Amino acid sequence: MTIAQIGIIGGSGLYKMESLKDVEELEVQTPFGSPSDALILGTLGETRVAFLARHGRNHTLLPSELPFRANIYAMKQLGVEYLISASAVGSLKEEAKPLDMVVPDQFIDRTKNRISTFFGEGIVAHITFGEPICKNLASVVADAIATLTEGNASLNLPDVSLHRGGTYVCMEGPAFSTKAESNLYRSWGATVIGMTNLPEAKLAREAEIAYATLALVTDYDCWHPDHDSVTVEMVIGNLHKNAVNAQKVIQETVKRLTENPPASDAHSALKYAILTNLDKAP
Ligand code: ADE
Repeated sequence: MTIAQIGIIGGSGLYKMESLKDVEELEVQTPFGSPSDALILGTLGETRVAFLARHGRNHTLLPSELPFRANIYAMKQLGVEYLISASAVGSLKEEAKPLDMVVPDQFIDRTKNRISTFFGEGIVAHITFGEPICKNLASVVADAIATLTEGNASLNLPDVSLHRGGTYVCMEGPAFSTKAESNLYRSWGATVIGMTNLPEAKLAREAEIAYATLALVTDYDCWHPDHDSVTVEMVIGNLHKNAVNAQKVIQETVKRLTENPPASDAHSALKYAILTNLDKAP
């Protein structure tokens, strides 16, 4: 049974979606324990969606402590087929300035301590991950940003630029990067840096859920000669400024997804992924 076809994960600063109506809290249990918080079911426009505060509504979980598997499993249990991940990121490129929105299409994994698979313990599978973000879902997110930023000042996004595509470096944290690391990632051509999205993207793919990131730039990390090194104050301050805009983007994205749900390769990701002979597996 589908309770919500569209899921939203809110990162630092986005703990609640103000525009949700008919809200219901669901305490979901999974074989991988409890998710970060209760899932919030609510109606956005015409559509029932499931919202989860990634770090808990009071921000009690470090990136390394997140129950990634429980979070994605819970979304799957509700019937989620499209997952939008709104996440604060640092910028590694001059042109992606604080308050801009990036819709990345690639990841580099710099995590050290994350469980990023549902498989193992007798079931062997290898998903295809060359394109880690669902292109069609990412296009819907980016198109939603574009309509809100281009020529409609009433929507309050006049200074926000959209960057389609780019590479998200996922680091372990919780400390932010050193300058040497930040410059290394810049030399790799990466666009933004965060601490959470890669395990989510892998698990979503294994769960055959289309996944895309709405990356909200909060800082220039620590590489920029004319900007102070990133602090939590900077991240939260800029994300609060952007939270209203982020919710408008999510609402517009949900409207478009409802009107025209895109095909996604993610929806059949396990078709050629499982090596184990499931007929003979215990
Ligand atoms: N989240 C927001 N800004 C960040 C940064 N500079 N590095 C890692 N994660 C971040």
